[in-house]
Amino acid sequence: MEVRRKIIIGNWKMNGQSKDLVDINLLLKKITQKEIDIVIAPPATLLYEFNGLNTQKNLLLSGQNCHQVELGAYTGEISAAMLKNAGANYVILGHSERRKAYKETSTLVRLKASEAVKQGLTPIICVGEHLKSYESNQTLNVIEKQLRVSLNSKIICDNPVIAYEPVWAIGSNKTPSPEEIETVHSFTRNHLSNRFGEHAANHCRIIYGGSVNKNNASKIFSLNNVDGGLIGGASLKAIDFLELIMIMKNSLT
Ligand code: 13P
Repeated sequence: MEVRRKIIIGNWKMNGQSKDLVDINLLLKKITQKEIDIVIAPPATLLYEFNGLNTQKNLLLSGQNCHQVELGAYTGEISAAMLKNAGANYVILGHSERRKAYKETSTLVRLKASEAVKQGLTPIICVGEHLKSYESNQTLNVIEKQLRVSLNSKIICDNPVIAYEPVWAIGSNKTPSPEEIETVHSFTRNHLSNRFGEHAANHCRIIYGGSVNKNNASKIFSLNNVDGGLIGGASLKAIDFLELIMIMKNSLT
């Protein structure tokens, strides 16, 4: 029995100001959470305003990162509790841009995910290989290691979303083939099943991210073990994101 609802997440990264909320109003009028989960991860500065506009709860909201401890003297950081307080339901953790720029490790991702769960946020845990690993057939080894360290049974109880984002596919207009994506996703599902049991494997959503656009989305969203998409560039304009939302709805069987 299918227990996983498909989910589409727009990651705005470091883009967006108050003026962009006009576009969001357009999006809010055209969507509902009826068939799939629709999430936007705006910059933290806009979360609260987003939440205010989102009176019908047509959108779910996500942070893009959080700190691993609850509060304290960490200048410039944002806690999971603050994201929750501003209206977020999810938080993206371990995005490759953070792993690269801020040297975030899978161990740190696990600590952040634990804190997120504690504060009532669902983590969206990103994994993905660099081009060099892809080219030397090391993808599954890299993914296995990242999953092994990033997850534990407490985090799994919250049914985290796992996002497979090959680093080389992000913003590059390149993607792995549908067969390659399916291979990584079914490998991830098996990893969850072997380590945490069937329930976890059936309930955690495994989504794909990296250069998803209107031309490739239908193929990717229809894959057996793909439960959704993590969208960067194509989520910034409501009209583009809406198109992907429609494609995902059409991919439902
Ligand atoms: P693009 O869709 O722009 O490739 O970005 C993917 C991504 O990094 C989403 O988190």
